[in-house]
Amino acid sequence: MAARSIIEPFRIKSVEPIRMTTREERERYLAEAAYNAFLLRAEHVLIDLLTDSGTGAMSSEQWASIMRGDESYAGATSFYHFEAVIHDVFGFRYVLPTHQGRAAERILFSTMCKPGDVVPNNTHFDTTRANIEYVGARAVDLPIPQGRQPATPHPFKGNMDVAALEALIADVGAARVPLVMLTITNNSGGGQPVSMANVKAVHGICRHHGIPLYIDACRFAENCWFIRQREAGYEDRSPREIARELFGYADGCTMSAKKDGLVNIGGFLASNDETLARAESRLLILTEGFPTYGGLAGRDLEAMATGLQEVLHEDYLRYRIASTGYLGRRLTEIGVPIVQPPGGHAIYIDAAAMLAHVPARMFPGQALVAELYLAGGIRAVEIGSVMFGTTDLQTGEEATAPMELVRLAIPRRVYTQSHIDYVCEIVEDIFVQRSQIRGLRMVWQAPPLRHFTARFER
Ligand code: F0G
Repeated sequence: MAARSIIEPFRIKSVEPIRMTTREERERYLAEAAYNAFLLRAEHVLIDLLTDSGTGAMSSEQWASIMRGDESYAGATSFYHFEAVIHDVFGFRYVLPTHQGRAAERILFSTMCKPGDVVPNNTHFDTTRANIEYVGARAVDLPIPQGRQPATPHPFKGNMDVAALEALIADVGAARVPLVMLTITNNSGGGQPVSMANVKAVHGICRHHGIPLYIDACRFAENCWFIRQREAGYEDRSPREIARELFGYADGCTMSAKKDGLVNIGGFLASNDETLARAESRLLILTEGFPTYGGLAGRDLEAMATGLQEVLHEDYLRYRIASTGYLGRRLTEIGVPIVQPPGGHAIYIDAAAMLAHVPARMFPGQALVAELYLAGGIRAVEIGSVMFGTTDLQTGEEATAPMELVRLAIPRRVYTQSHIDYVCEIVEDIFVQRSQIRGLRMVWQAPPLRHFTARFER
């Protein structure tokens, strides 16, 4: 009889100590950090669920790749190796390495957008939105209605609302939409996947209007695994085959390889358009580096090339999605309201539902982030009105976000099940005493991307 447990498909070769602090110490550290977890020192954090970006553990094969890095300024072997993997996994002809995802975004939008343009997405990530707005264009989120309802389950809650996309294009005119984006998985909408049917439908609309479709590919492998698990006709297809089909509907992609590239730094911008790629490479040279290394060292390109293949291993993806689901299931059993169903890289607690007594203008998500740190040394991130809200500097009026979420992002191959059990116990303790939790006041901010540096008082 086959065992039922899905176990970590690796053993641990190198370890890094983590250390507990006392509640008193954490009270002091958090006050010094002005109740903003981004301003904490990592050494004062026990379990760091701030992000799954660049925080994963590389494999022994990736460390071996690091030693094979060719550090030639131009034409490095490592670039050609990396380029071959991009051709093979994603199918795009032109690839520009960048130091991380947002560098690819900046180059893409600076090349394709002009002031007054409109860029739709299922949900823009904060850096994507900021880079679009920086060039004077408008970033529009078009998730399906279920995507804005944390408790409503849907197998592909990351899907774009295709009727809303049609309506937007009709309203502003196709000439003002330089590209459409799809973020897989939809990070800001709860780490939820996009179905192949939705990718196809969006592709059809884009093609009809002559608008290029770009994929934000950060977590593409996790999205492909959900397609295999949940979409009819894909159960016997390999993640690699699913990825090739999916990217076949797109004209290009941006990628932060710090997620599904399984590396600590790296990214790229890819497309099939030679003229565009030439224009983009001029910007790349200006701020990132020569086109065969972008913002990276040769060893980084090698580690990425290896990571982008490892991430498609079925054993890895089965474990990855099961371990995120485990955290989601345990929290649901406790009664904690989370975005349902669990996503690929993170569990999102619905802070608006859990702390219904704290109004949005007092940042229930940020208050819960503070509590997680104080109670257990756990670092999480608010994805709500701190991240997406705005303050009218004349009136002091707060425009709040549609959801108040707290993300527990799970670094890849880093924490074991007992670490996750510990997280569940801490969340349970907080849940039991949730009526005692009070809101926070934002006393300083620097938009855009104010959440990184904002300061709060209790
Ligand atoms: N797109 C998505 C969907 C992302 O989640 C991120 C980063 C980026 C683009 C930008 O990539 O950080 O390499 O410049 N997300 C991280 C997070 C920071 O914590 O979710 P980057």
